[in-house]
Amino acid sequence: MARFTLPRDLYHGKGALENLKTLKGKKAVIVVGGGSMKRNGFLQKAEDYLKEAGMEVHLIEGVESDPSVTTVMNGAAKMQEIGPDWIVAMGGGSPIDAAKAMWIKYEYPECTFEDMCKVFGIPELRKKAHFCAVSSTSGTATEVTAFSIITDYDNGIKYPIADFEITPDVAIVDPELAETMPQKLTAHTGMDALTHAVEAYVSTANSAYSDPLAIHAIEMIQHDLVDSYNGNMEARDRMHDAQCLAGMAFSNALLGIVHSMAHKTGAAFADYGAHIIHGAANAMYLPKVIEFNAKDETAKKRYGVIADYMHLGGANDDEKVKLLIEYVRGMNDKLNIPHCIKNYGPDSYPTEQGFVPENVFLERLPEIAKNAIADACTGSNPRIPTQEEMEKLLKACYYDTEVDF
Ligand SMILES: NC(=O)c1ccc[n+]([C@@H]2O[C@H](COP(=O)([O-])OP(=O)(O)OC[C@H]3O[C@@H](n4cnc5c(N)ncnc54)[C@H](O)[C@@H]3O)[C@@H](O)[C@H]2O)c1
Ligand SMILES: [Zn+2]
Repeated sequence: MARFTLPRDLYHGKGALENLKTLKGKKAVIVVGGGSMKRNGFLQKAEDYLKEAGMEVHLIEGVESDPSVTTVMNGAAKMQEIGPDWIVAMGGGSPIDAAKAMWIKYEYPECTFEDMCKVFGIPELRKKAHFCAVSSTSGTATEVTAFSIITDYDNGIKYPIADFEITPDVAIVDPELAETMPQKLTAHTGMDALTHAVEAYVSTANSAYSDPLAIHAIEMIQHDLVDSYNGNMEARDRMHDAQCLAGMAFSNALLGIVHSMAHKTGAAFADYGAHIIHGAANAMYLPKVIEFNAKDETAKKRYGVIADYMHLGGANDDEKVKLLIEYVRGMNDKLNIPHCIKNYGPDSYPTEQGFVPENVFLERLPEIAKNAIADACTGSNPRIPTQEEMEKLLKACYYDTEVDF
């Protein structure tokens, strides 16, 4: 028995933002990030549409990338003062995820961050407010997912909050918002989307409902991501839909250990001056995890199906898996993403010596591996790695070496 949950309404296509006018309520709070929505005029438009709908509008601005527990708690306190019946989150994964967690705390002020992290353990929401998500990046698909990723900077770990309670009520997927993305963001978020679709397709929780969404997303991303990166706005627009389809798939089929490792390495070296950006981490780890998971026969077959849909060739599943790995690595090259942590520069671009020193990586490896195994995304991966295997896998992701175990 399984459940498949999506937002009640999804508005897509250019100009879809205007559908904010259709929300019915008294008071809305808009949650946004660092300023891109304001700079590009979308915040003002959103405010105007909500006012046209007869709502009083308040703002919570300045949610940082990879939002912290503190940001969530402060935002929720503001929501308590304002008392909105609509939460409208606009921007990339960061402000939307932060707003989802604020929503939980707003509805249940006694709920701690630890309580929120209990997988599928969120109490019933919508007693105070409904939630509308407007995405401006083409990757996380948090506008349709049951997830929110919050970083606990005290221990440098990203925690996924997972529950269908936080699947938004309304999603707005307006490609105009994504057209202003700079190249690097387009690359990273696009590879995040590809990873979502691939992990969802081979997940042990895959289903006849999630499979077509995942496969179609993969085909679209293959067709459009590199062109979108190179400035083709029609491709950019289609990528906004593709990432959303991938999100619909993984929100229900769940993910795998590419994400477990990305969550647990992302902020683990923040004291060395940088993050490993989520999408870039996925892009580097995906080929290694395909190699690892393909030792499972069912997963190997499924990667073979993906390769077939992508017309990569190959006479048997082993060859197809190899070609798929080569294809993903080729995409990384075209998108200026390194192949391993060792070559990951502080600006995310490939460099001879990246910002994570080898000795620091090796010193922290056992702890990171342990945390990655414990991540909520590990349970649906086709192979559950042991501590030793996870350490070896992470090493392969550091040095870009082969995965033969
Ligand atoms: N909830 C989920 O299901 C899910 C899935 C994958 C990742 N995540 C999380 O989402 C976060 C990453 O989100 P993201 O990749 O969307 O980036 P982001 O929200 O962190 O934004 C990155 C930067 O891009 C800017 N930006 C956003 N949209 C823009 C636009 N249209 N034009 C110009 N600049 C723009 C932002 O202001 C910010 O500076 C991570 O914390 C990751 O762990 C969540
Ligand atoms: Zn992701």
